[in-house]
Amino acid sequence: MKIGFIGYGNMARALSKRWASTHEVFIGGRDTERAAELAKEIHAAGSGSIPDAVQFGDAIVLATPANAVEEAIQSGGGTNAFSGKVVIDINNPVSVPGGPHDNVGEYYLPISFDEGSLAEHIATLIPEAKIVKAFNMCQASVWEMDPPEFDGRKLVTLYCGDDSSAKSKVAELIDCLGCEAVDVGELKYARLLEASACIVIKFLFSGRDMRTVLNLIQPEVKPI
Ligand SMILES: NC(=O)c1ccc[n+]([C@@H]2O[C@H](COP(=O)([O-])OP(=O)(O)OC[C@H]3O[C@@H](n4cnc5c(N)ncnc54)[C@H](OP(=O)(O)O)[C@@H]3O)[C@@H](O)[C@H]2O)c1
Repeated sequence: MKIGFIGYGNMARALSKRWASTHEVFIGGRDTERAAELAKEIHAAGSGSIPDAVQFGDAIVLATPANAVEEAIQSGGGTNAFSGKVVIDINNPVSVPGGPHDNVGEYYLPISFDEGSLAEHIATLIPEAKIVKAFNMCQASVWEMDPPEFDGRKLVTLYCGDDSSAKSKVAELIDCLGCEAVDVGELKYARLLEASACIVIKFLFSGRDMRTVLNLIQPEVKPI
């Protein structure tokens, strides 16, 4: 798969590094030198501007701060440029009044977009793109784990979206990380994934290990 990243920060680094060995990865950003640095580090197929990344990818990862996603989409060429692409929304639109270091855990709340999610808001900005929400529920250091396993169990990675072919591609990317992909349903469930991430973020800022996750587990089913 050809994967274009918008951004070269923590999440772009963690995910692109894991995918670069099995997929064609392109790092794009506002500062093309910084994009090139990450591309070199992870042995990516290429690097360049934001429009370059959008043009390159069959799948585009929006890896900017959540409040910059709209601007990044415009920089990438807007509605037409994203038409037909799988767009992976990894972002957590979290309200943190006073900043993350105030240790006011109760303020880690998802920002509401007319009672919906950021993912649904993105879908209104680029209606011809196939939006899938995924990878938002774990800190970047979890995505660097190879594989992300906890007590011998795979990390169950929840994702949602309205387009089944796009979801299959994202499930493939999840498998590729050594995780178990679990489809939560339509894009409307993104509001739950964004809210769930807030629980994790609250714990992380309360001092828990950055690799703390919410995992879906069930007893091992043994044949009788
Ligand atoms: N960090 C985590 O552990 C984690 C976990 C799950 C989900 N997430 C979500 O993933 C997203 C990315 O997080 P991150 O930690 O990777 O962020 P980050 O390290 O701060 O990186 C953000 C990237 O976005 C770029 N950027 C900032 N403003 C931009 C704009 N207006 N247009 C284009 N590019 C812009 C930055 O580069 P320049 O400023 O140089 O352009 C940088 O490359 C966030 O929405 C976050 O909620 C993060």
